[in-house]
Amino acid sequence: MTPVKNKTQLIDPHGRRVRKLRVSLLDACNFRCFYCMPMNATFMKASKWLSPTAIENVCSTLSEYGLEQIRVTGGEPTMRKEFRDILTRLSKLNIQKLGMTTNGYYLEKELEFLKDTRCRHINISLDSLSKDKFNTITRRESFDQVYSSILRAKEMGFNVKVNTVLMRGINDSEIFDFIKFSSTYDIEVRFLEVMKIGQACGSQDDLFISANEAVAKIKSQHELQIEPMDFDSTSFNFKTPSGAKIGFIASESKPFCGACSRWRLSADGFLRACLMSNKGVKVKDVEPENYKPLLESLLLMKPINRIKHVHEDMNQIGG
Ligand code: 5AD
Ligand code: SF4
Repeated sequence: MTPVKNKTQLIDPHGRRVRKLRVSLLDACNFRCFYCMPMNATFMKASKWLSPTAIENVCSTLSEYGLEQIRVTGGEPTMRKEFRDILTRLSKLNIQKLGMTTNGYYLEKELEFLKDTRCRHINISLDSLSKDKFNTITRRESFDQVYSSILRAKEMGFNVKVNTVLMRGINDSEIFDFIKFSSTYDIEVRFLEVMKIGQACGSQDDLFISANEAVAKIKSQHELQIEPMDFDSTSFNFKTPSGAKIGFIASESKPFCGACSRWRLSADGFLRACLMSNKGVKVKDVEPENYKPLLESLLLMKPINRIKHVHEDMNQIGG
């Protein structure tokens, strides 16, 4: 059922309606995935973060303008000490779907708590099924915790998806292992193209594998049945006869900007209309009654064509 909203909806000049918001709780992360951030990354001061009440207020105001889905991200959202407070608040909003994206390291101890919230959708990054390789990519001893939290979350009935950034010479030899993983555990695996963002800008060309190339490789061994998707889905998805569910997020080779329905809120209260654009409006300390002109100006800042690259690191924008 579509919740009843009492304000006009946010529709930009290209007819795209804002339905989804990604909310970054902080830019810090306990991993140092080599394509995402440098070893010596520095993070914003905690004093700049939006408070839990402020996050709730921004999200609640946007929900009155037609927002339907919220996904909590970081950096790593579970590292925010008010993580539970914030999720409890977001669970009370008049929206259809609440989810989170996490690296999974601290997830297992949050699952009992999350079970009683409205957060049913958990996306977890897993770039390798090999412990050594995973630890090399994330530059942390992290595989066991992450892997076990993925299986536990699935066991507990969460809607779990695994995000795998596909990289030539790094994990492309594991595509079929991921398909087996998906069918064994009934967990959707989504292969992401490396995006020209932050750290990945320099090395992107060597690592890059297009979704088309990956699909062709998979088709040599598996029949791929197309799955229907929402018009504004970021992925295109397939099923295999063995029951694997796989998706592709082809941000570089098949940008989905034309149908994008997403805005992003940074940890310090900057609302952006696009992952790839620095343009946005500051909503920190803005009273709800003063939002309208800000939101209207942001609608005009959403690009229709894909911006080529962005030098800020992914964790700072809130992947
Ligand atoms: N290209 C593609 N995906 C990236 N992520 C972080 N940086 C990049 C990049 N340059 C991924 C993470 C996580 C998701 C939030 O974004 O691995 O799965
Ligand atoms: Fe952390 Fe995610 Fe960046 Fe890895 S990709 S360093 S898990 S924010």
